[in-house]
Amino acid sequence: MTASTPQDAIVEDPHAAAPEHPSETELQLRLRQQELLAELGVHALRGTTFQELLDVTVRLTAEGLRCEFCKIMELQRGQNRLLVRAGVGWDAGVVGTATVGADMQSPAGFALHTGKPVISNHLENEERFRTPELLLQHGIRRAANVILQGDDSAFGVLEVDSRAAGEFSKNDLSFLQGAANVLGMAIERQRVERELRVSLDRQSVLLEEMNHRVKNSLQLVANMLHLQAGGAEAEEVERSLKDAGKRVMMVARAHEHLYRSRDLLTIDLGSYLSDLCKSLENGIECSFDQAVVARIEMTAERAIPVALIVNELVTNAAKHGYPDGVGKVWVTLNQDTTKGHAIVRVADAGIGLPPDFDLEGGKSLGMRIMRALSRQLGAALVVARRTQGAEFALYLPYTGNSAGR
Ligand SMILES: Nc1ncnc2c1ncn2[C@@H]1O[C@H](COP(=O)(O)OP(=O)(O)OP(=O)(O)O)[C@@H](O)[C@H]1O
Ligand SMILES: [Mg+2]
Repeated sequence: MTASTPQDAIVEDPHAAAPEHPSETELQLRLRQQELLAELGVHALRGTTFQELLDVTVRLTAEGLRCEFCKIMELQRGQNRLLVRAGVGWDAGVVGTATVGADMQSPAGFALHTGKPVISNHLENEERFRTPELLLQHGIRRAANVILQGDDSAFGVLEVDSRAAGEFSKNDLSFLQGAANVLGMAIERQRVERELRVSLDRQSVLLEEMNHRVKNSLQLVANMLHLQAGGAEAEEVERSLKDAGKRVMMVARAHEHLYRSRDLLTIDLGSYLSDLCKSLENGIECSFDQAVVARIEMTAERAIPVALIVNELVTNAAKHGYPDGVGKVWVTLNQDTTKGHAIVRVADAGIGLPPDFDLEGGKSLGMRIMRALSRQLGAALVVARRTQGAEFALYLPYTGNSAGR
């Protein structure tokens, strides 16, 4: 914004008196005005709401110039009029409703169009401007106007008015323009913030929509694989297709968690894994337990491979651990902050791993998927127990919600 200085070009009142030496009270007034400007600046920075800021400005400006009346008028572009948006001293029904002409013949209109501060110390003798009806109705004798400037265009005018005899001086204009500049900057800042918020909201909506669509598409793929599995002749083919469908479904769920998350970017691993446990076939009961208080959140890029590994482990526990199709599987999520990792454990109380079980060298698809994904995550997958069931532990580098994603 381009702040105006009153010394730029003041439209002088032809009836102005000669300047005097500053008296003690005059100095006190200037000091008070500086305090008031500082106070207004604090309000402007504090993120006070727009209307509150306008109200504070008219109150502080009136006090600084010891005037009974002050108002902020906003330019109504289509009508070339200025609407009273905030004010002190005015009769009920003026603020929010009354308007004055924004043409060059009104003092406010002149200040608005030329950008020059205007003092009218003797409205009754004013020959340069027409005195607006609103001022006549309130018996106003003198007025001072300055422009409220935004970056691209003028917002309106800040005006002080008084019924009392006396005169507005150039020093008064400095204060008035100072208040208008502070307010102008705040108006501009709020406008930029509003625009940013709108574009951010739009981005969020698009992101949410995208996750919805990805989830729906993947769900469709998973359903098709299931349908195809139903039609397969060989049991082996049917199982492979169902397993593939389950893997695709886990990725679909990740996108569901994404559009439900606060930031649309990270997934709460605990609730994602808890969902996974709910999707097991009849006969197998899978429980999820998160032993950490804080949520463990990570991007989909990391959460999906974790869920795919856990899916393989849980499927194995159900399939191999309990050949008769009945049993319990436990999934737990822990965090070891000192070592900087999250730990996911999958345990069962089934028949236990075969003696030739080889986590590192096994050639089956499940094993290869788990090894490849662990490597991608920089994680370590270890066998924690072989008898009285099996237990696997995945050590995943994770230091907190902002790091280790
Ligand atoms: N929880 C478990 N309890 C008992 N045996 C298990 C368990 N997990 C794995 N195994 C054994 O390890 C072998 C390898 O598992 P892996 O997941 O790699 O292959 P798979 O499940 O047989 O086939 P797929 O490629 O479809 O996953 C299994 O065949 C099974 O013998
Ligand atoms: Mg398997």
